[in-house]
Amino acid sequence: MRLDVFFGAAEITPAESAGRVIAVIDVLRASTTIAVALANGARAVIPFESSEEAALRVKSFDRSEVRLAGERRMHRVAGFDLGNSPSEFTPDAVDGKTVLFATTNGTPAMVGVAGARDVVVAAYVNFTAVTALLRTALRGGADVAIICAGQDGHFSLEDTACAGRYVRLVTKALPGVVANDAAFASALVERQYKDNREKVFAESTHGRALAEAGFGADLRLAAELDRYPVVPLYRDRQITKLGPDRER
Ligand code: MLT
Repeated sequence: MRLDVFFGAAEITPAESAGRVIAVIDVLRASTTIAVALANGARAVIPFESSEEAALRVKSFDRSEVRLAGERRMHRVAGFDLGNSPSEFTPDAVDGKTVLFATTNGTPAMVGVAGARDVVVAAYVNFTAVTALLRTALRGGADVAIICAGQDGHFSLEDTACAGRYVRLVTKALPGVVANDAAFASALVERQYKDNREKVFAESTHGRALAEAGFGADLRLAAELDRYPVVPLYRDRQITKLGPDRER
């Protein structure tokens, strides 16, 4: 079995993703926000490559059933109901609704995964739940990949540190797992910060930009380990919560 990390969505080829169980991380903030939305009762989250696409697609829904959400340069897209702050996705805002969601790096990374067996959305807020799923996959003989959405296709410190925590805990006491260099490197980054997730965010380019733009509360929420213990599963073009009503 393999556990490989990719530092940008464009790094993984269709041949490498085929048949794998894939976790996509955009811890600041799309994957955190998706976990919060589903934990707070959203029926589904539909990721889009662009806000234009989401705005077009909303026309095919009963408007009272959906929330149009997303950011551009961190701020809510003009005319959208919600931005990309996880704290906006309260039960009042999303319970029973389908969220059409477009962000700069996170949602395009999810949409771009091709041919995987399963795609899950991973963050710190749902860490243990997603770790359990990935461990079960490896134990069952599946190969796993962790894709860091990164920043404009490039390496990002916060996604890498989060991936490193997954690498460490997913492989714990599981012999025979082969990992690529990026997986080893992400584990080294994670070890450097230990449990100081807020420090990772404070030292990352995007974390600093969010703090400067007034989104410091989002950083604190995104650092809360296991606060929203859901497994968001992306299948048939929508992300729903794995649970009794949605089996793998
Ligand atoms: C993204 O998808 O690039 C991020 O979630 C951006 C953000 O923090 O709003």
